[in-house]
Amino acid sequence: MLYRNLYIENAAELRDIRVENGKFAEIGANLAAKPGEDVRDFGGCLALPPLIESHVHLDTCLTAGDPVWNESGTLFEGIECWAKRKEKLTKADVRERVNRAVRLYAASGVQYIRTHVDVTDPKLTAMEALLELRDELKDVVTLQIVAFPQEGIESYPNGRRLMEDAVRMGADCVGAIPHFEFTREYSVSSLNFAVSLAEKYDKLVDVHCDEIDDEASRGLETLAARAYETGLADRVTASHTTAMHSYNNAYVQRLMRLLKLSRINFVSNPLVNTHLQGRVDTYPKRRGVTRVRELTEAGINVSFGHDDIFDPWYPMGTGSLRDVVFMGLHVCQMMGYGDIMNSCKFISTNAAKTLHLGDSYGIREGNPASFIVLDAKNYYDALNRSAAVRLSCKNGRALAETEPAAARVRF
Ligand code: FE2
Repeated sequence: MLYRNLYIENAAELRDIRVENGKFAEIGANLAAKPGEDVRDFGGCLALPPLIESHVHLDTCLTAGDPVWNESGTLFEGIECWAKRKEKLTKADVRERVNRAVRLYAASGVQYIRTHVDVTDPKLTAMEALLELRDELKDVVTLQIVAFPQEGIESYPNGRRLMEDAVRMGADCVGAIPHFEFTREYSVSSLNFAVSLAEKYDKLVDVHCDEIDDEASRGLETLAARAYETGLADRVTASHTTAMHSYNNAYVQRLMRLLKLSRINFVSNPLVNTHLQGRVDTYPKRRGVTRVRELTEAGINVSFGHDDIFDPWYPMGTGSLRDVVFMGLHVCQMMGYGDIMNSCKFISTNAAKTLHLGDSYGIREGNPASFIVLDAKNYYDALNRSAAVRLSCKNGRALAETEPAAARVRF
C-alpha cells in the first residue's frame, strides 16, 4: 500500500509512505507505485505517530448523570455521585463502557491508553474487567493499566494487600495517592511502598501526586527523591501535581534540581484540573494546573491526559485529545507559534516516553506501520480547525476513518 503526499510530523516537504506486511517499508519523496500496488493520495495532509492517552480512568468513564448529575461540579459531589454509581458496578458494565470509550478514542486517532483502575475495591471488579480487555483489544489499542488506590494505600483497609493483588493479577504500573492519605506520615510511607512494589515486580510507577490546591502538599519531592535513589528514574511518572501551581517560587527553584536529577515524567490534565481546582478560592481563583511551561523549558518530559470522560468528575469529553491540548495551551499560556506547532508532542512523542513505548513508536522505516492522517497541513492548522482524523492505521490496518465535514456558505 502506498500513501502519497503527506507532511510527516510538521515537515515542510511532502513524503510518500509505503506499507508492507504491517511495517513502514519505505518513506521518501515521489515513490513510484509498484505494479498492482494500492495507492491512496492524501494531497498534502499531516501524518503523525498514533495519539496516546497518557492518563484516564476508563473504569468510571461514560457514567455522567447515572444515577445523578454532579450539579456543583466539585470533586466532593463527584465522589458522592460515584458512590451511588459504584453500587451497580459489575464486570459486564465496565466492559460495555470501556468498549464504547475505546471506540471513541479510536475515531480520534488514539491507539495507546494508560488507564488508572480503582483497586480500593475488595472484589477488584474493574481491574478484572480491564485485564480481560487489555488482551481482547490488543490489536486495536494498547492498554496500560495502573493499580490506582482511589481511597489510599495506608488509609484504606487492606490497602497494601489490594495493591499487591492487583499487581500480581497483571497491572502494568503501580499507583498511589499521597495527598489523600490521612497523614503526612502515611503519605510518605504510601510512596515508599509503591516504589518498593514496583521494584519487586519490575513495574512502572504512576502516582496521582498532589492533586490538591494545598501548597503544603509535598508528595512530589518524596516521589522524585525515591525515583532518583532507586534508579527507577524515567520509569516513574507524577500525574496532576496541581499543588505545584501553588508552591512558592523559592521552593520550586530548589525542587527543580531534584526533578531534573530524578528524570521522572509528568502528566498534566488541563481539562479536568481547570474544572476541579481552585474550588475553595474566592477571587482571585487559582487555575490549579501544574507548571507545564517551566517543566518543559527545564527539559523535563510532560504529556497531557484527558483524565475523565463524561463521568461524575468531568461532564464532557468524546475521547478527543485535541480538546485537551487546546485547553492546555490556553491555561498554561503556551500560545507562541512554536508552542502551538509542537503541542502535538504532549499527546504523542512525550506520552510515548511516559508509557515507555521504546523505539518501535514513530514513523520510521522498519517500525510497525502505525500512524494517523489529519486533514491539515501541520499541527497548528489541525488544532486551530479541529481537523478530522482522516485515517488511523495500526500495524498497517485501517482502524478508523473520518470524512472531513464541509460547510456550504451561501454568499
Ligand atoms: Fe486521574
